[in-house]
Amino acid sequence: MKIAVCILSVVAALASSSAAAMNPTTQDQFTKTLSSPSFPFTSSEVQFRTQPNKSAYFGALKTFNNLILPTEFPATALPFAIITPSKANNQGIERAVKIAKEYGLRVSARSGGYMSGYSANMAAVDKEDEDFLLVDLSKLRKVVVDPKKRTATAEPGATGADLAHETIKYGLAFPAPHASRVTIGGFLLQGGMGIGSRLYGSGVDNVIGVDIITASGKTVFADAHTNRDLFFAIRGGGQFFGVVTRFHLRLTPMVQNPTLTPSYNASTVQVDQVFAIFDRPQANDLLSFYAKFDPTAPRALENKIVFVVDPPTNNKQYLFASVSAVPFNSSSEVAQAQGKITQWYKSIPTNFATSDPTTYNGVVHGGDASWADSDLSYYAEDLWFPTPLDPRLLQVLIDQWDKVPSALSSMALNTGTWKAPTRSALGFDPSYSFCIYSTWKRNGTAAWDQQNKAWLEETVKALKPWTLGFYANELRPKKLDDKDYWRKCYEKDTFEILEVTKNRWDPENIFKSLQ
Ligand SMILES: Cc1cc2nc3c(=O)[nH]c(=O)nc-3n(C[C@H](O)[C@H](O)[C@H](O)COP(=O)(O)OP(=O)(O)OC[C@H]3O[C@@H](n4cnc5c(N)ncnc54)[C@H](O)[C@@H]3O)c2cc1C
Ligand SMILES: *[C@@H]1O[C@H](CO)[C@@H](O)[C@H](O)[C@H]1NC(C)=O
Ligand SMILES: *[C@@H]1O[C@H](CO)[C@@H](O)[C@H](O)[C@H]1NC(C)=O
Ligand SMILES: *[C@@H]1O[C@H](CO)[C@@H](O)[C@H](O)[C@H]1NC(C)=O
Ligand SMILES: *[C@@H]1O[C@H](CO)[C@@H](O)[C@H](O)[C@H]1NC(C)=O
Repeated sequence: MKIAVCILSVVAALASSSAAAMNPTTQDQFTKTLSSPSFPFTSSEVQFRTQPNKSAYFGALKTFNNLILPTEFPATALPFAIITPSKANNQGIERAVKIAKEYGLRVSARSGGYMSGYSANMAAVDKEDEDFLLVDLSKLRKVVVDPKKRTATAEPGATGADLAHETIKYGLAFPAPHASRVTIGGFLLQGGMGIGSRLYGSGVDNVIGVDIITASGKTVFADAHTNRDLFFAIRGGGQFFGVVTRFHLRLTPMVQNPTLTPSYNASTVQVDQVFAIFDRPQANDLLSFYAKFDPTAPRALENKIVFVVDPPTNNKQYLFASVSAVPFNSSSEVAQAQGKITQWYKSIPTNFATSDPTTYNGVVHGGDASWADSDLSYYAEDLWFPTPLDPRLLQVLIDQWDKVPSALSSMALNTGTWKAPTRSALGFDPSYSFCIYSTWKRNGTAAWDQQNKAWLEETVKALKPWTLGFYANELRPKKLDDKDYWRKCYEKDTFEILEVTKNRWDPENIFKSLQ
């Protein structure tokens, strides 16, 4: 089995090395083909790197993250053409994939571009000088709920809020991203730690099918019965196999819980009851309490400690201890556990304790509202830690927090996960997730950018001895020679399955490479 995988990998590597930059004549032909009236997209839906209107090209390339502006992207992240469908058009994308193949171009897909830097663009990250096609699905945001079956279909550009708005109409919910603006495409393809995940599983555990345009240039449906290998792989390793155009989702009935403080979006979901804010001197106490309490807490509770530096209050360091009760669950067990925490935090002296979510979400960076600022630069990484949390690890977190260069940065220790309810490519359970957001405003000083990136890198390095692996959802941009970039996100067996599945569905390595 393993030998076969090896040989196939070599074939794939050889095939991909045939893709390269097109010569000017081929570029010209390719441009003509995609501009012809018979090509099923309008001229405003297709932009070319070589076109005179550069601002339209770079405009189409812009992502959420201003770490690097599109005009500063490295050549490896500049697609030759960008297709941004304004409405569902699988036939059009199928055609585009076939044409790209004919021209020896690889294809990359993007839903919201929330992944750090320009990572989402990059299909052709294996080497310099490779032309590729980018399909940007950010305008496809349709969500259709079937209340009787308690299912929904959703397009990849839908945001967490888009999804919640539709499902709540029927008293149904989905473990949507914690940040309401994050799109579900990348979120679901790589894991999806969402609201309610500890109880109902991650996003991928609630995906019951996908529509994907594969390297054959056809739309394929995959679920637990049809194309099962693809279905396994896409849920956690979804970015290597094609362009996903639609998700089929399982929904869960919501239980209204009037004791919750709404904050994600008052009109959509109720989440994040912030119990207390702690000062730097209480960090040790709080973290040791958390490490003991969390494993015993009911799964309907999600516990989180956010490490912030608060700009409006003199760059003081604060810890936010929040306990979110799953919005679609209420039980006496939950109420009891909430009571236990309240009692505890009241027993230690704090400067101020609050349950006002606007303090967390509005004033301090890292809350949902703060991500409305699309002018931010961020560099993120998410790691899995084994349970139980090692006390020495907690000390490393505090040490790194003390060194944060930008007051906009934050780190969050998220509740230990669960035994995954379904088999998927998402790895590392049971474990805690820890996300690090190095976030700053650029001011034209390269040293300032460098300082913020270096802090993230140093933090990841300091935490490495404690990690099980990395979360594919939050990787920094890939360096050309980084051979472990994807491998470090999966358990060994899972990665081998991904390689086999890749060779079956994309033997020519048209889509993002696993290397
Ligand atoms: C503020 C913030 C909060 C976040 N909160 C959470 C959270 O609570 N839980 C969590 O799990 N994650 C969270 N994330 C991480 C987030 O889920 C990932 O960044 C995710 O990749 C975003 O999805 P996207 O659609 O923007 O993906 P993109 O950035 O567009 O793409 C990510 C990757 O998926 C591929 N891809 C995207 N769409 C498709 C498609 N349709 N077909 C094939 N491949 C595709 C891309 O090629 C790329 O490799 C957060 C991120 C931010 C910035
Ligand atoms: C170039 O594209 C931008 C953005 O699409 C548009 O606003 C502008 O009018 C275009 N300029 C020209 C000269 O066509
Ligand atoms: C919150 O809900 C309101 C009302 O439905 C909506 O107008 C608004 O866009 C939502 N905000 C976000 C961030 O989703
Ligand atoms: C609520 O959560 C508890 C575990 O914390 C679980 O036992 C119960 O079944 C859940 N209720 C619903 C309605 O899902
Ligand atoms: C940019 O910000 C950093 C940190 O606040 C500061 O040290 C540096 O002087 C700033 N540079 C400019 C040009 O404002």
